[in-house]
Amino acid sequence: MKSSYQRLLHGNQAWASEKLANDPNYFKYLSLGQNPEYLWIGCSDSRVPANEITGTKSGEIFVHRNIANVVVHTDMNLLSVLYYAVEVLHVKHVIVCGHYGCSGIIAAMTNKDNGFVNNWLRNIKEVYEKHSEELDAISDITKRENRLVELNVVEQVHNLGKTLIIQQAWKKRDLQVHGWVYGFDDGLIRDLKVMVDETSDLKPIFRYKL
Ligand code: CO
Repeated sequence: MKSSYQRLLHGNQAWASEKLANDPNYFKYLSLGQNPEYLWIGCSDSRVPANEITGTKSGEIFVHRNIANVVVHTDMNLLSVLYYAVEVLHVKHVIVCGHYGCSGIIAAMTNKDNGFVNNWLRNIKEVYEKHSEELDAISDITKRENRLVELNVVEQVHNLGKTLIIQQAWKKRDLQVHGWVYGFDDGLIRDLKVMVDETSDLKPIFRYKL
């Protein structure tokens, strides 16, 4: 009996053959290196694949994904990806992309015990608490969830701005940080127009003297 994982290997073979048929040098070209203009920080959700929903190809987007696209300043994984993308790959844009209907966001809004994930969702609960006045005033639960999805993206964009990595880059060059939200209802990405540079609303306490 064929296991379901074998479907992936067969899919890969078909994909590789198709690429080679279209361009015999496709993999040779990829092997030369990468020069992506974008760093994508998105949700791990299987329905939000960075390249697919943006119509981009291999080599175009450097990607970091975690549950509910959170930027945690002690997360060595995220910081390493961010540092490499900004300092070595010299990406021009860093994008935080959340999505409506995010299970991480919805779970964080409840008092349900999610085991080990509680520790991660705690970051979202802090976002809720910070904006509780606005959120508690929204009676429709889906609308409240959607608003928290947006506010979470806004806070994560600000969290990026609070890092030394981003602030140092701003001193040296034009690096834009974007906050986006993707929706399953129409497949479209909304630009929340949060913060694009150092002149935007980063509170003074978080600004390093550089
Ligand atoms: Co999600």
